[in-house]
Order: sequence, then structure tokens, then C-alpha cells
Amino acid sequence: MLSRQDRIEKALHAMLPAPEIAPRRLHSAMRYAVLGGGKRVRPLLAYGAGELASAIPERIDFVAAAVEMIHAYSLVHDDMPEMDDDVLRRGRPTVHVEFDEATALLVGDSLQSLAFQMLSGHRLADDPRRQVEMIEMLARASGSRGMAGGQAIDLESTAKMLTVPELEFMHIHKTGALIRASVALGARCGDALTDAQLDQLDHFSKFIGLAFQVVDDVLDADSSTATLGKTAGKDASNNKPTYVSVLGLERARALAEDLRDDALRALDCLPDKGGHLRQLADFIVLRKF
Ligand code: IPE
Ligand code: IPE
Ligand code: MG
Ligand code: MG
Ligand code: MG
Repeated sequence: MLSRQDRIEKALHAMLPAPEIAPRRLHSAMRYAVLGGGKRVRPLLAYGAGELASAIPERIDFVAAAVEMIHAYSLVHDDMPEMDDDVLRRGRPTVHVEFDEATALLVGDSLQSLAFQMLSGHRLADDPRRQVEMIEMLARASGSRGMAGGQAIDLESTAKMLTVPELEFMHIHKTGALIRASVALGARCGDALTDAQLDQLDHFSKFIGLAFQVVDDVLDADSSTATLGKTAGKDASNNKPTYVSVLGLERARALAEDLRDDALRALDCLPDKGGHLRQLADFIVLRKF
């Protein structure tokens, strides 16, 4: 049996257009953006939630790949000069550096479309209405009321001092929304969970989604470029408000731990106490990169 990590690599590899297919440069850039790096946290959350719901693994593959495609697209655009202006991602030159800015824009556009193609072109749920709901969930999580909206707030907030509630609002949109959708979509590939259990899973994903970005802020301030595979210290040099700039390193770290504890408590009433999701919650908070 393939590990979850192997499943997602294989699925992404197969779902991305081959580099020999025209337009070759765009397809090569899409593959460059998605393959060969990345922790795959969102796909792993989808598998973890899907397993709790007794989902067919082949169904989760499509959801896991779709959320990673949206994530990879968000990174490509996030790194562009108009946004964070980063030259290093996953230990390699960013897409606009390796290719060019116009290609980086089109990579984002195309990955977003491909994600929705994966969700709409394959049977993911027995009830077609459920599948339409799933597609809508990813659309909401990616758009102006989700990730893209959070990114807009991030840009507007540059060089401003945010309050903790404002910072939380930004983070739950730019990062939390897609993490929440990854769990929700994974869980909806199966039907073993009750509505109450799906609600608990949603609490889990909200806590862990916020924790994820708090830790990202901490690592930016506290780790090295070599370990992160992206330029350390970039939030301070870009004058971004973060949990570190607002709370300081120690309190930001403590907050991430508290959020992890809340997330784990939300899993208590789930089958196998949340199974693999418990390990993922620890990984998200204890990770070094
Ligand atoms: C980085 O995400 C950007 C954020 C949303 C915080 P990840 O830390 O998941 O990046 P990869 O996918 O492992 O490169
Ligand atoms: C990115 O947040 C959130 C996204 C939606 C991509 P960051 O700008 O902090 O992510 P990194 O640190 O560049 O990976
Ligand atoms: Mg950013
Ligand atoms: Mg960035
Ligand atoms: Mg960051």
C-alpha cells in the first residue's frame, strides 16, 4: 500500500499536464510549481479526514491534489514582485525567477482551473448534491472571502500595526480557509461521520489553520533560509505585521501551542480520537520548516 505522501506525489504527477504537451513552457512551469517539494500538509489533512469518514482513497486523491494545486498557485502569486517579492521557494528559484512573471501569472490561473476540473470531472460523493457542495466549498475558500481575500488584507496591512483580532482575521482568511476546506473536503469523500462529528472536525481545522500561519510567522523570524527553503526574515524586511511583530516570539509560540491543544480537544470525540490528524496537528506546531 502506498503511503499518503506517495499517493499525493503520484496523483499530482499524473494529474498535471505532461511537459511535452503544448503549451510546453506553461506546462513545465506548472509542474515546477507543484512537484518536487512542499510538505503537502493540506493533502495530508484531506487524507486524515477522509480516512475518518471511511472514504474511498481514490476519491480523496482528487481532493488532496485539488487543494495542493490551489495552495501552489497561491504561493506562485504570493512570491511575485507585486506581492512579497521572493526569489526562493521550496529551496529553488521562485516560478517568476525561473520562468518569467507572465508565465507565473498563467501558472496560477491554470492551477486554479485544474483544481476545479479535478473536483468536477470525477465522482467524489455518491450524492451529486454533496459533490456540488464540495466544489462550492473550495471556491469559497479560495476566493475573495477566503485565501485571495486574506492576501488582499495582507497587502493592505503592510507597514501597519494590526490589533490581534485584525491579525487573526487576516490569517484565518489567507491560510486558515484553505486548511479548513482541505479537512472538510476530505471528510466529505466518505459518509461515516455524523453532522456533529463533522462540526468537531471543523473546529479542529479552524484551530490548526490559524496555528499553521502563527508558526509560519514564528519560523520566518526564528529560522534560517537554508532550513526553510525560502528567505528567512522576509516579513520584517517587507514590513509585514505578523504574530511575531505584534506579540513577540515567545507569546506567538505559546499561542501556537494553545491552538494545537484546542485542536486536539476537538478531535477527542472522533473515531480513533482523530487518528492521523493528531500527528498532523503536532507536526504543524512543532515543525522546523
Ligand atoms: C506556506 O505554506 C505558505 C502559507 C500559507 C503559510 P507551506 O508551509 O504549507 O508551504 P509548502 O507547501 O510546504 O512549501
Ligand atoms: C502566504 O503567507 C499565504 C498564502 C496564501 C500564500 P506568507 O506570505 O507568509 O507565506 P510564505 O511565508 O511566503 O510562505
Ligand atoms: Mg504573503
Ligand atoms: Mg510570502
Ligand atoms: Mg510567511
